[in-house]
Amino acid sequence: VAHGQRVDAESIRRRKEGGRLPVAIVHVPVSVPGGQIAEYGIYHDITERKRAEERLRRSFEQLRALAAHLQSVREEERTRVAREIHDELGQALTAIKLDLTALLRDLPTDQEPAVRHCQSILNLLDEAIQSVRRIATDLRPGVLDDLGLVAAVEWAAEEFQARTGIKCHVTLPDVDIAMDPERATALFRIFQETLTNVARHANATQVNIRLVQNGDLSLEVRDDGKGIPEKQLSAGQSLGILGMRERALLLGGELTISGGPGEGTIVKVRIPNIHRN
Ligand SMILES: Nc1ncnc2c1ncn2[C@@H]1O[C@H](COP(=O)(O)OP(=O)(O)OP(=O)(O)O)[C@@H](O)[C@H]1O
Ligand SMILES: [Mg+2]
Repeated sequence: VAHGQRVDAESIRRRKEGGRLPVAIVHVPVSVPGGQIAEYGIYHDITERKRAEERLRRSFEQLRALAAHLQSVREEERTRVAREIHDELGQALTAIKLDLTALLRDLPTDQEPAVRHCQSILNLLDEAIQSVRRIATDLRPGVLDDLGLVAAVEWAAEEFQARTGIKCHVTLPDVDIAMDPERATALFRIFQETLTNVARHANATQVNIRLVQNGDLSLEVRDDGKGIPEKQLSAGQSLGILGMRERALLLGGELTISGGPGEGTIVKVRIPNIHRN
């Protein structure tokens, strides 16, 4: 204020009737005769604003907690459904297949039409068994639960390459990284979303994937495609990227996306590893 500038501040005053009063203060310099500068203060009661800010902050926290909860419920549900489909349906189909194979063996060889019919049912059964496996794996890859994140990333990259023809270069640690299942799941789901995006949007010919542990866990997926235009990123309706960000944030980490036209896209996730076991 002494330099002739207006100063804005917030402060807490005591109310006459007791209690605290949050105020916004505007300090305004005023020239007084003699060339000196005096100060004029304007006080505003900002109780309502402070309350609104607090409500907003709390509702953000609640939303974030709700998102985390929904995500873990969803993941549990997927794991349960995958297991049930795989175990119950898979076993039923396998039992039918065994019975039918026995029946086929016992059929008199002169029953040509019946034999052919049985064989075509067997083929259908094989397809159904394959579908059951695929559906269960899409819901929740068993490799993630059985062998851990490193194996799951390797597996998903191979699948991706086989399905899309986009070449994957994968750099992984030699041994699996000890980490709790939530972290492994979050990183794996983020990884899946980046690959889905590469397949859907990038027009890439190759992808470099690096999973590194040096205290923190970091995963980098770099494609040589057309890049994400800046305005796509800030558009706000991109639920895929928003979901990846949110997953990383929930584990105290962060996700950054860089690159651009002509440079491809680089998605980096870094989360602190607080491992269980
Ligand atoms: N690897 C990539 N290369 C080029 N563009 C990309 C890449 N990844 C994402 N994008 C662009 O960013 C946008 C947002 O991606 P995001 O995953 O959030 O949404 P989406 O894939 O369009 O839909 P969904 O919500 O089903 O994931 C995409 O629509 C696409 O234009
Ligand atoms: Mg997407």
